[in-house]
Amino acid sequence: MTITREELEDILGYGVMAPSGDNCQPWDFTVEGQSLQIINNESRDTSLFNVSKSASFIACGALLENISIAAMAAGYKTEAALFPEGISGQVVARISFQKTEKKKDKLFAYLDKRCTNRSPFKGKALARETVSSLKAVTKDLGYGELTLLQDRAAIKKAAAVASLNDRLLFENKRLHDFLFEHIRWTKKEIEETRDGMDIDTLGLFPIEKQGFGMLASWPLVRFMNIFGLSRMLPVRSKVIYKSSSAFGLLQMPGKTPKDFVMGGRALQRIWLTATAEGLSFQPTTGITFLIQRLYMEDGSGLSPKEVKIVEEAEAGLKRILPTSRDKAIIMLFRIGRSGPPKAYSLRRKVRL
Ligand SMILES: Cc1cc2nc3c(=O)[nH]c(=O)nc-3n(C[C@H](O)[C@H](O)[C@H](O)COP(=O)(O)O)c2cc1C
Repeated sequence: MTITREELEDILGYGVMAPSGDNCQPWDFTVEGQSLQIINNESRDTSLFNVSKSASFIACGALLENISIAAMAAGYKTEAALFPEGISGQVVARISFQKTEKKKDKLFAYLDKRCTNRSPFKGKALARETVSSLKAVTKDLGYGELTLLQDRAAIKKAAAVASLNDRLLFENKRLHDFLFEHIRWTKKEIEETRDGMDIDTLGLFPIEKQGFGMLASWPLVRFMNIFGLSRMLPVRSKVIYKSSSAFGLLQMPGKTPKDFVMGGRALQRIWLTATAEGLSFQPTTGITFLIQRLYMEDGSGLSPKEVKIVEEAEAGLKRILPTSRDKAIIMLFRIGRSGPPKAYSLRRKVRL
């Protein structure tokens, strides 16, 4: 192998800065002969959101894009074979590296700056040049369909649909438990695990932070739901989501594992471009995974009442965005201007 392990580890240091659902980092790595393999470690994302492993494939796609950008900067051209052992195999990508001249992609400088920002945004309209550079991403790649909603009334409707996810998070035990298993409450826990979400990345006010700790108890949440807790929680997220300058929807034309990986690559370039444009970015996509759960996994894991809420969300989304059950929703997200987040998520160290 012309590329050394040290070089690979450096490249992977940038690679793993990619986003993943609840920062679960579903990837493992193996070196196989001359190539590096990305393995989907299925035990890391057992969430109901991870419909047919799609959330993990999106995360692995974002990782692959980072690897390709960082390898180029280190003087290696990458070639990735997706699912070389078949779509039910655990190898998501087998990547080979070819020595070439060092070339810095314009997005390289943003690999370690991209992050999720869950605070309120300033709601100011996006500049025309910003919209053009975001739209240029999928055009230049030749795949991925990006729709941007900038109309205030449509943003309000998108905020209402996306916020329904917070109701389901507190009505469905599996969704609730997965979230709280991934929240890191103390510095020690954050440093030791280097995965999950630092409580300070959630953008809560100090008083909310205390209350949020109590919501970790499922029996308490279930009891408080008698008094309407789960129906009140989306009100907060709706207000925050409404403060966005735009909502974005990224779709792929098919729903195969490869579509989700390639969608993840496109998503990463969009997110990095938004970062380069000085925009804050938050995925608001839990609800779209649950919508896809209805027809990709027959709504399994959702109660009839929850299925109804998700169906209403699907109808609401269809009224404002060109969604279709034939396509894959890669991500629904919001963008806008704001200050930096209070904290950043860590990553596990990569050792090959
Ligand atoms: C497929 C996918 C789905 C996500 N869904 C949400 C979401 O619905 N809400 C949210 O606030 N963050 C969501 N995130 C963001 C992750 O929680 C975030 O990437 C992770 O915690 C790491 O933090 P970072 O993006 O700041 O590096 C999602 C990320 C991915 C890749």
